[in-house]
Amino acid sequence: MGAATSQTDNTKETLGLAGLIGRSPAMEEVVRVTRQVASSSATVLLTGETGTGKELIARAVHELGPRAGGPYIRVNCGALSESLLESELFGHVKGAFTSANENRTGRFEAAHGGTIFLDEINSVSYTLQVKLLRVLQEQEFERVGDNRTIRVDCRVVAATNRDLLDEIDAGRFRDDLYFRLNVVPIVIPPLRERAGDIPLLVEFFVRKYAQSNNVSVSTISEEALAALQRYAWPGNVRELQNYIERAIVFSRDGHLSLDLFPPHVRGGAPVRFSRTGARNPETLCRELVSQGMIAAGEATTNLYERIVSQVERELIQQVLKACQGIQTKAALRLGINRNTLHKKIEEYGLEAQDA
Ligand SMILES: Nc1ncnc2c1ncn2[C@@H]1O[C@H](COP(=O)(O)OP(=O)(O)O)[C@@H](O)[C@H]1O
Ligand SMILES: [Mg+2]
Repeated sequence: MGAATSQTDNTKETLGLAGLIGRSPAMEEVVRVTRQVASSSATVLLTGETGTGKELIARAVHELGPRAGGPYIRVNCGALSESLLESELFGHVKGAFTSANENRTGRFEAAHGGTIFLDEINSVSYTLQVKLLRVLQEQEFERVGDNRTIRVDCRVVAATNRDLLDEIDAGRFRDDLYFRLNVVPIVIPPLRERAGDIPLLVEFFVRKYAQSNNVSVSTISEEALAALQRYAWPGNVRELQNYIERAIVFSRDGHLSLDLFPPHVRGGAPVRFSRTGARNPETLCRELVSQGMIAAGEATTNLYERIVSQVERELIQQVLKACQGIQTKAALRLGINRNTLHKKIEEYGLEAQDA
């Protein structure tokens, strides 16, 4: 897919869905299907790398559909352990397990009459997948620890950042659940496959963050824009959005120049420290400047935070790779909480990937 241009309408960059920017043929197709499917009650399966806009699409499906007046409930299935997720989704009764001090309504019940968005469905355990299949098929379930059957009427939108067919092959995902979810598949292409959308997104985020930061930024250098278009964006639109916001915060004269973007975006090498260099902040700082990791001017502001985040990103990326992208394993090895790791992966726009 090459750079997308449209001769017909140069002033309008939105795709007719609130807040969704892009004009590449691939995104136009995504929007076309989204609009079409929204009016039905069909289950939608969104597939796309992290940060590609799955959540935006899920919300649009809800808001453009007949259930727009009902609740929209999002559950991040990747952020909770199996037992917590089970009671989050289905609720529990008092005494169902040690910490169940009260009856609790689950998210499926909360979504009655509306839409439930099951984000990161690929991380649901095999056993919990059975229970999900039943809700999808029969619209019924029991709260944890209860035998009373509850019926719900809600539309299901699910999202995955991995190809579920690969997950089925690997024995991690049930094919019956996949077929049930995959009524209307929408695949959102990674940003690197629609580089033509980058200038529009940059313009949009520049305007957005200039406004919210009270900065009157009006320009981005050609050199910077070219680098942004060359970069592979493993964290997709979310990563782009983060870097633009950061560049705006650090810009002094209302101009976004290349040096305001992180080294890996500028085309620099990963962080490396010499054995002798990293003894005190000044030496470390000089070393980072000499490696092009931070600009000389930057070295005086937020030094600690900037160096730590550079190193942190690199560290997480390497450990994830060593753990074949398995977040629980990586969290253990890093000695940090899984949710913390998850947040950092999102923040840095990293992809927890397969071997
Ligand atoms: N096409 C787009 N236009 C504008 N903003 C976008 C677009 N795609 C993604 N974003 C923004 O990028 C961030 C990540 O999108 P999100 O929907 O959370 O991605 P995902 O759920 O696929 O990880 C959000 O802040 C979202 O608003
Ligand atoms: Mg998401």
